Amino acid sequence: MAIKELTVFMLCFWIAYAGHEFFSSTDQIAQLYGKTKELLKVFSQCNDAENVETIKSVLPNLLFSYSDSENPEEAMRNPVAAYRLLRQMRNDLIYIVNQPNLYQLLEIPQLEDLDGAASGLIRLQEIYKLHPEDITKETSLNADEAYNVGLVAYDEEKFQHAFLWFLYSLDRLTEYSTTTEEELLHYLSSSVYHFGSLSVAIYFSQELLNLDPSNDEARAQLNRLLHLQSNPDIFTLNTESSNYETLCRGEVDERTSKRQRALSCRYSTGEGNPRLMYAPVKEEVEWDEPQIIRYHDIISDREIEFLKNISRPQLSRSEIYVSGNNKLSKLRVSQSVFLGESPEEARVSQKIADATGLSMESAETLLVQNYGIGGAFEQHIDALETVNDRIATCLIYMNDVEIGGATVFPKFGVAVQPKKGSAVFWYNLLRNGEVNWNTEHAGCPVLVGNKWVANKWIHEIGQEFRRPCSLSDWE
Ligand SMILES: *[C@@H]1O[C@H](CO)[C@@H](O)[C@H](O)[C@H]1NC(C)=O
Repeated sequence: MAIKELTVFMLCFWIAYAGHEFFSSTDQIAQLYGKTKELLKVFSQCNDAENVETIKSVLPNLLFSYSDSENPEEAMRNPVAAYRLLRQMRNDLIYIVNQPNLYQLLEIPQLEDLDGAASGLIRLQEIYKLHPEDITKETSLNADEAYNVGLVAYDEEKFQHAFLWFLYSLDRLTEYSTTTEEELLHYLSSSVYHFGSLSVAIYFSQELLNLDPSNDEARAQLNRLLHLQSNPDIFTLNTESSNYETLCRGEVDERTSKRQRALSCRYSTGEGNPRLMYAPVKEEVEWDEPQIIRYHDIISDREIEFLKNISRPQLSRSEIYVSGNNKLSKLRVSQSVFLGESPEEARVSQKIADATGLSMESAETLLVQNYGIGGAFEQHIDALETVNDRIATCLIYMNDVEIGGATVFPKFGVAVQPKKGSAVFWYNLLRNGEVNWNTEHAGCPVLVGNKWVANKWIHEIGQEFRRPCSLSDWE
């Protein structure tokens, strides 16, 4: 009894600290969601005299708002819901730690997380051509939330998206909103001005002046606008897309899909590999030149769960490799970890060795990766252009993705959909050792769902007799 009381007593002291990043991994947000819910339950048992009032008045609401989803991973499949939760957790946790005498070690999402998450939503809108109304079909945002997404778009100079979010926010203003109509009109007229749709800009400047005739800035702005001429339509999303964006949306060229349909599937025993005699690998050719092969059912659900379990506590923001250095970049929004050597890692490696016929002698250990809100990995090649380079890549999909999240190859127009338990494989280098630039690829942002993958980068050393080189210039 005494011990139980002591535990409750101790848990009632909360200390907030800035932990790691959340927005770049939906799994990390899900973990925090679980923890917040647990802590709120504990908090509800605290009966420290000073806090009784707070607890009585606030807690039922707080707990209630965390009760709608029993499975936090499920709650993260919708990026807008994930953004809302992140905001809500930040507000609630800050509120709680500001109460006297309540502290426990607690990680709170930072403002950078909210901005990063909003930026992820905007990336989704750009690639999948979505208006705020489209992306919020399942989960709507309130005026304040939408205003913040608009501000992030505005900072990124994406004035059309900013404008549409401010408009969305204006539509949802209520007496409880902290955002004001004036702020919104100001930003509406300013973003539409930067975008260049003058007639609309004039309209909003006029509205702002009507609201506050003493606003000199608005009057000056209106005068400037009346003397300019230009009129792109701010309500219609730009229809120009890069090859990468088109592929992410699943718009595959008819010639490409015809060529894909002609490709084949087969069971392979690795030319007599004893480990494959009774359990052959199911190979599917996803593309012929350069060859991209998918191995189905290469890893079991249990192995996937195990890999996730050991990776979770070690995940950190992924970096990109630029001229010899690793750095953080908006081009890659995910968290990842290179697993240490372990029997399980070795088992997965062995399966890849069996399927591909390559040696894992100089391969890197598995890199397990979870993507964030709107998280993508923009176009890149895996080869590092060093000695003992990454000759090949094997990319294991650890879950199905509902919408989005394809691996796309813009140079030859192919999109490969994630499929749980399968892996895709391609050579980054030609037989003559040169980089095959056609293998440039990208990971599309996830529109609905979560995305976990594991990468195996296989290097040149050890493959001398397995993939003989060639002196040809083009092979
Ligand atoms: C993964 O972790 C969960 C929760 O801790 C546990 O229930 C499950 O058995 C673990 N799975 C594996 C395969 O290690």
